[in-house]
Amino acid sequence: MRFFTRLLLSVLFCTCASAGAAPASEDGYDLWLRYRALPAAEAARLAPHARAIVAPATTSPMLDAAIGELQRGVGGWLGTAPARTDEVRAGAIVLAMPATRGATAAWFDGLGQEGYRVLRTRLEGQSVTVIAANTDRGLLYGSFAYLRGIATDGAQKAPDLRSTPRLPLRLLNHWDDLNRHVERGYAGASIWHWWNLPDILDQRYTDYARANASLGINGAVLNNVNAKPDILTAPFIAKAAALANVLRPYGIKVYLSVRWSTPLELKATATADPLDPAVAAWWRAKSDELYAAIPDFGGFLVKANSEGQPGPHDYHRSHAEGANMLARAVAPHGGIVMWRAFVYSEDKPTDRARQAFDQFTPLDGQFDKNVIVQVKNGPIDFQPREPVHPLFGAMPRTPLLMEFQITKEYLGFSTHLAYLGTMFEETLRTDLRPGIGAGGQAATVTRVLDGTLDHGQATGMAGVANIGTDRNWSGSHFDQANWYVFGRLAWNPEAGAEAIAREWAAQTFSRAPRVVDTVSAMMMASREAVVDYMTPLGLHHVMGTGHHHGPAPWVDNLARPDWNPVYYHRADKAGIGFDRTAHGKGGSGSAGQYAPALARLYEDPASTPENLLLWFHHLPWTYTTRSGRPLWDELVHRYDAGVTAVAAMQKQWDSLAPYIDPQRHADTAQRLKVQHREALWWRDASIAYFQSINGLPLPAGARAPAQSLDDYKALKFPYPPGNG
Ligand code: GCU
Repeated sequence: MRFFTRLLLSVLFCTCASAGAAPASEDGYDLWLRYRALPAAEAARLAPHARAIVAPATTSPMLDAAIGELQRGVGGWLGTAPARTDEVRAGAIVLAMPATRGATAAWFDGLGQEGYRVLRTRLEGQSVTVIAANTDRGLLYGSFAYLRGIATDGAQKAPDLRSTPRLPLRLLNHWDDLNRHVERGYAGASIWHWWNLPDILDQRYTDYARANASLGINGAVLNNVNAKPDILTAPFIAKAAALANVLRPYGIKVYLSVRWSTPLELKATATADPLDPAVAAWWRAKSDELYAAIPDFGGFLVKANSEGQPGPHDYHRSHAEGANMLARAVAPHGGIVMWRAFVYSEDKPTDRARQAFDQFTPLDGQFDKNVIVQVKNGPIDFQPREPVHPLFGAMPRTPLLMEFQITKEYLGFSTHLAYLGTMFEETLRTDLRPGIGAGGQAATVTRVLDGTLDHGQATGMAGVANIGTDRNWSGSHFDQANWYVFGRLAWNPEAGAEAIAREWAAQTFSRAPRVVDTVSAMMMASREAVVDYMTPLGLHHVMGTGHHHGPAPWVDNLARPDWNPVYYHRADKAGIGFDRTAHGKGGSGSAGQYAPALARLYEDPASTPENLLLWFHHLPWTYTTRSGRPLWDELVHRYDAGVTAVAAMQKQWDSLAPYIDPQRHADTAQRLKVQHREALWWRDASIAYFQSINGLPLPAGARAPAQSLDDYKALKFPYPPGNG
C-alpha cells in the first residue's frame, strides 16, 4: 500500500478511536513497544522527519537490530517503514558514528562506549534527525531512546536526547530451572525451552532481547541460582550458545549460575575443594570450553553455602578462596564472578539479619579484581519493606552489585498490583552516612554502585526476572512495569520512579493525560498499600510457609527458628518487634552494623523511621507512635489504610474503562478485585492473631475480623506457583 493511502487509513482509524470507539483489545505481548498507528496530527508531525534511515555502510548485527527496530516503530506508527539508504536526504533519520561524513565531533563528546545523542540538525545541507554514538551498541540504545521519545511525547517536539549509562552491569537473573519451572515465577513456565534448544529458536527470544535492549539491559543469567551441574555439560553449553547468538545483536551477554560442587557431581574430580589443583584445572578447562562456544560469555553467578547449597565452607575455605578460584578460570577471557552474599548459617543462633555482614566484611580486600559480591537490597529476603543491606558502604575494597527482586515473591505474586519503582528507589537513595554529606553529596547506595563513594569500581544492578511464557510475559500487565523500571533504573538510578511510571503508562496504555496521571498515581501509591496490609511498621517475614502466599504470623513449628514468622515479629503479651539495638541494650546488635550516623538513628525508636520501627525495636503495645496513637491502634490503622488504598485503586482503574482496551482493562480489574479480597484477609488474619497474643480490645470504630483465627490458620494452598 502506498504511504499516503496508509496514512489516510490511519488518520481515519484514529479519528474513529478518538470519537469514542473503545480501543482495540490487546493481549500485552508487545509490552511497551506497541507502535500502534498514530493519531493523524501526530503522524503528520512525524512523517516529514522519518522518511528514510541513513546508516553507516559497514554493517553489524547490532546496527541491523537498531535499523530493524526503527523500521518497525516508525512503520507501525505511520503505516510504512522508512527504507534504509546510505545517502543523506531531507527528513531522514541518520545513524551517525564519528566517521560519518559531515558529523560534528561534539555530538560524540562524553558518550563513551554505550551512550547516545539524538538531535534534529542539518547534515550535508539537509534537515535530519541524527542518532549519534561511538559504537553500534550506542546506536541501538539511541534508536530505542528515539522511539521512546516519540511514544511518550507524540512527536510534539524535535528530539533532543543525550544519555550514558551510570552503571556498566545491567542484568536480569532468571531463576529458571532446566525443566522450565521458574522458582518464584508467577508468569507461566520458563521462556527458555531447553529441550528444544539449540535447534528450535522461539520468536520470544528475539522479542525478549528487544525489550531488554530498549531499556539498556545488557546481560542475562539464564538459570536458577539453585543450579544443577547439568548446565555445564556440553549439550547445555550448546543450548546456552544458541541463546547467546539470539541475544548478542541486542547487546545482551549470557551468564550462567553454577553449582559449587559441579566437577565433583559430574564425577570429574574427587572433591570440590577450591584449593585442590585438579578442581581449579577443571574449572579452567570448563571456562575455556564455554568461551569457545560463547566468545563473549559474561561469567558465573554463584550461590554458595546458602540454604543448603554446597560451597567452599564445606572444605573449610572462605568465600574469597572459593570465588577467586572461579575468577581465575574466567579471567583470561575477561569474565567475571558474581558471588552472592545471601548467606545465613544453619547452626548460628545470631540474628539472621546480621549474618551476611558478619561473614563478608572480614573478607573485604581479599577478592580478586574480577569478583563482584552480589548483595540483596535488604538483609533478610526481598520483603515488602526492609532497611538497606548493611554491607552497602561497609566493603570499600570490594565491588558490590545490587540484587533486586522483580518477581513479587513476597508482594502478592502477579495478582497484586505493586509497582516496585518506589521500593528500588528507596533503597538506591538511602543515605548510608546521614549528615556527613551535608552540604555535599549524600552517601547514597547509588554511589556505592557507581563507585564514587569509596572511589571503587562501578558495578551495576541485577534483577530477579518476572518473565515467563504467559502471553503478557509478566503474569499481569502492571508487572511489566516492574521489568521496565528495573531496566530504566539500572541505566540511571536517579531517573525517578514517578517519571518512569509515567513514561511506561504512556507507552503501554495511552498518552492521554488522564490515563498517564491516573495510572501513575495508582502505581506510586501501590507498594505502600501492600506494605500497609501485609507488613506495616517494619514487620517482616510473616508470610505463609514455603510458598509465601498470604498471612501466617502464627507459624512457630518450622525446623529452623529463623524460618518462623514468630522469630521475626516476636509478639508477646507486652509488645511486638525485633530488638536489633546494641547487645548492651539487649538487642541483636544488627543496627550497629550500619555506619555510625545511620546506626545512631536506628538505635533509638524516636529517630528510627516509623516504617522500620518494628524491624529495629521491640516495643510495648502502648508505645506512642508519631500519630499519637498507641502502637496497637496504629497497627490496626495501617492494616485498614492498606485495604482502603486498594479500594481506591479499584475506583481509579474503573474510571479508565473508556480509555483502555477491554481485554487489558478486564484482566487488571479482576486482579484488583482479588487483591482487595486478599488485602482484607491479610488485615483480618493479622489482627485476629495479634489480638490473640495481646488480648487488647480493637481500637474504637475498628471492624472485627470476619472469621476466627482458627479459620485463617486452617487455610491450605496446594500447588502454589513458583514454589518447590
Ligand atoms: C529466597 C527464595 C528462594 C531463593 C533464595 C535465594 O529465599 O525464597 O526461592 O532461592 O531467596 O535468593 O537464593
